[in-house]
This record gives sequence, C-alpha cells and structure tokens, in this order.
Amino acid sequence: MERVWRTCCRMEGNDAMEKDGYRVLPVMEETGYVVVDSYDQASDPREWEDLVYVDWKSSGDTRFAPLASAYGDMECNGFWNHTPPKTDKDGVWVTENVDIAPILTRRALEPGANVGRCRVIELRPNTYGEALYNLHRDDNNRLNPEGTGWIVRAFFNLTDDSASVMILRSDKDDPTTEVRIPMPAGQQVVIDTQSFYHAVWHPGNEPRYCLITSYESGPELDEWIAARHPRTSIDNHPIDEHVAAEGEALAESKRQARAAALAAKGEDPRFGDGSMAVQGEKEVLSEA
Ligand SMILES: [Fe+2]
Repeated sequence: MERVWRTCCRMEGNDAMEKDGYRVLPVMEETGYVVVDSYDQASDPREWEDLVYVDWKSSGDTRFAPLASAYGDMECNGFWNHTPPKTDKDGVWVTENVDIAPILTRRALEPGANVGRCRVIELRPNTYGEALYNLHRDDNNRLNPEGTGWIVRAFFNLTDDSASVMILRSDKDDPTTEVRIPMPAGQQVVIDTQSFYHAVWHPGNEPRYCLITSYESGPELDEWIAARHPRTSIDNHPIDEHVAAEGEALAESKRQARAAALAAKGEDPRFGDGSMAVQGEKEVLSEA
C-alpha cells in the first residue's frame, strides 16, 4: 500500500468528495474509513465517568465532554462558530477535563497529527431507525485552507458496545451503500466523516462512550495508521431484515414529520436532510 500522501483529485460519482487541493491519505481514500488494531481498553481506568459533560444543543440525548475546544472553554461548538472563526484544527486543551482524563488525552495525542475538536461523546441507546434519521455528514473542513491536510475523525470506543455499530452510507437514502462497523471496547476507527453519512446505532441499555478526535491528514496520521494493521474493508455487522425495514420506515416517517413541521413554520423543509448546503446554514443534527 502506497503511503505517500498526495493532493486529492475530485472523485467521480461522489459530490461530497470535493477535496481538490487538500492533502489526503491513500489509505483513507480506498473506502473512506480504516479500522486499526484494537486498544486494550479494559486495562485503563474509566476516566470518562468523571469528565465534565455539556449538553449538545437542546436535545439532551447526547452530551459531550470536551478535551479540546476552539479556545479551551468547556464547550463543544464548531470552531467556525467562534470569534475569530477557525477551522477544525489547533484545538485548545480544556484544562479541567484534561486533568481528569490524562490517558484519554494521551491517546488523542498519540498519532501526533494536528488535533481539532477532541471530546468524549455520551450517546444514549437508540434504535436503528433513529440512527438512520440521524445520519449526517460533518463539516470538518469548513475554513480549511487548500494545500493543507483534509480533516478526518478518529473514533476510539470506550464502553464495550459490541452490539452497537457505526453506520456509514455514501448515499444516505441507499441501504446498499451501508457499512456497519461494530464498536466493542477498544475499537479504533478513522473515518472521513465529511464524505460519509454516519451515525451510531446503539441498542444497549447504558450510554455509549467514545473518544472522537479531529485530525489533519498528513504523514503523522499516516504512520500511526500504517503501524496498526489497517483494514479498509470489513464484514458488515449483520442486521435482521425486519429490523432494517422497520428502521427505514421509522426514519422516513420522522423525516416527513420534520419537513412538515418546518414547512408549517415557513422554514426550508429541506433543512436537516443532511445536505451540506442546508447544514451550512443551520446545524442541528445529532453528532455520533
Ligand atoms: Fe458526525
């Protein structure tokens, strides 16, 4: 596998991958995700249980504990929503949480790449249909100057959620494009979350915790991945066909209800459909 990073060209058939002028990693371009060696999570203390969490927007269903934020404050807003705005790089460590979670901080720093947002997510149990409804792309590269590295995200699962999966779709409305990556404790996955629609289906009884870090693509991240037996395709985690059908139906009904509610308020009913243009105006979709 060639490991020399390169400047990306536009990839045919996927308008999300407008990466012209950005440095990308060949290993990430194969499928858009890479699973690397698992981490021995069971040997570490459960630092995430002591972190300070903040609510994401108003939903209350998902909370984040920031380890690095735009300017070091205890908050999780996109870096571009600050003054001055910045791209998802050069995150400033949040002292209070870093002091609580030195091991998680060390893991986030391990690849040696530029770190943007870094936080632990607390995700409450959900259904497959709710996860499909939550499918979204991240806006990782807003304000990212061309000529620099494309920003991707690493997901280090902390709790042992073997029945939970990271759902990826290149086309959010096409189940045949779906990848389901199981998330047991210690799972380490790097994903181009601006190109993939993604959300986690977490059917457990307890919240799921995962360390999520934005990294700039470059030789440091490339070497970290290469040293950990990267796999750019996996056997899809199985799903019952009835569960899949019910999920599609639930997600569609929720989309229609949302569109109707927005239309009734005179707002753009496309809002929340996952399109980058609309997300750019208003971002409310759940993070995963
Ligand atoms: Fe996301």
